[in-house]
Amino acid sequence: MRVLLTGGAGFIGQHVLTRLLDRGHEVRVLDSLRPDVHRDGKGWPPPDGVELQIGDVRDAAACNKALAGMEAVVHLAAKVGLGVDIADMPDYASSNDAGTGELLAGMARHGVARLTIASSMVVYGEGVGLCAEHGAVRPGPRLEASLAASDFEPPCPVCGKALGTALVGESVALDPRNAYATSKMAQEFYASNWARVAGGSVAAMRYHNVYGPGMPRDTPYAGVAAIFTSALRAGKAPRVFEDGGQRRDFVHVRDIASATVAACEKVTAGVHAFNVGSGTPRTVGEMAVALAKALDGPEPVVTGQYRLGDVRHITADSEKLRRELGWAPSVEFPDGMTELAHQPVA
Ligand code: UD1
Repeated sequence: MRVLLTGGAGFIGQHVLTRLLDRGHEVRVLDSLRPDVHRDGKGWPPPDGVELQIGDVRDAAACNKALAGMEAVVHLAAKVGLGVDIADMPDYASSNDAGTGELLAGMARHGVARLTIASSMVVYGEGVGLCAEHGAVRPGPRLEASLAASDFEPPCPVCGKALGTALVGESVALDPRNAYATSKMAQEFYASNWARVAGGSVAAMRYHNVYGPGMPRDTPYAGVAAIFTSALRAGKAPRVFEDGGQRRDFVHVRDIASATVAACEKVTAGVHAFNVGSGTPRTVGEMAVALAKALDGPEPVVTGQYRLGDVRHITADSEKLRRELGWAPSVEFPDGMTELAHQPVA
């Protein structure tokens, strides 16, 4: 297939590009090489046979040029991270939502009907917890006073008692808790509006915590695995927030790429959301220990610090992806962590 890959010069984009090429697709990349991501200003040389168009999805002319002759789009171009500041809001709304709107309008003009977009597990907010009395419940936002008192677990919203763990399925109501999450949810809705009107298909890939070679580091938007690796390489202990018991599903970027390309190839009608996780939740504390061991570095320090926008636990049920697209992750957590620890420093 002739595939337009937006954001193909980014961390996930480069792995998706490799996978698309391995699968025999013809790929054109549209990427703005935004300076907050490509900070060294060196640009990005595309692999042989790949056309790079430097441009912004918010620019209708750039979309028109990039979409000409394409059969499918994988849309990864976005501002990532958590939204560390309210001042980031306009950029999330513009880069992620206005950008997606412009791309969708272009796809309608060019009759490109197949779309795979990067979404995120953050659209579920605090996810789902299990109350002994009230069953599956949706915890509310954690109060700053509770966090300040080191009371990190969100309680049952009905009785206030402690909750057990549950995996989040795609059908639970979305509940974004920060600007990034809101922008990802809006992208999904714009895409589904487009699909209905223009007769297109959408696969929204709700990525869990992605890690692996090429991960961005040393910025406020870097994921925790990159932050810990950088600290350890500088001989410092990883600083684990809260009590380290917050659960995530760390999924390797090559598995993210294979899931994304499977969706691009197989989803040809309707609107579908897929959680993309390894299926094995880990705690942030556990991950810090694994990296410290792999790098023979100092033991992690549990700081009790917190970030108000953080959710406590978020773990996906990725069965739908396995069942409907025949996908399975291939990188085990210990192997992936060892690889991350020993990858060359960019
Ligand atoms: C991450 C991604 C988000 C993605 C989501 C999918 C980043 C920055 N965020 O959000 O884009 O949509 O996964 O699930 O990549 N922590 C520490 N020490 C630190 C930094 C963080 O202990 O120095 C803790 C945080 O408190 C949090 C956990 O690590 O509990 C994960 O943080 P982070 O890597 O920022 O990711 P998410 O918020 O899960």
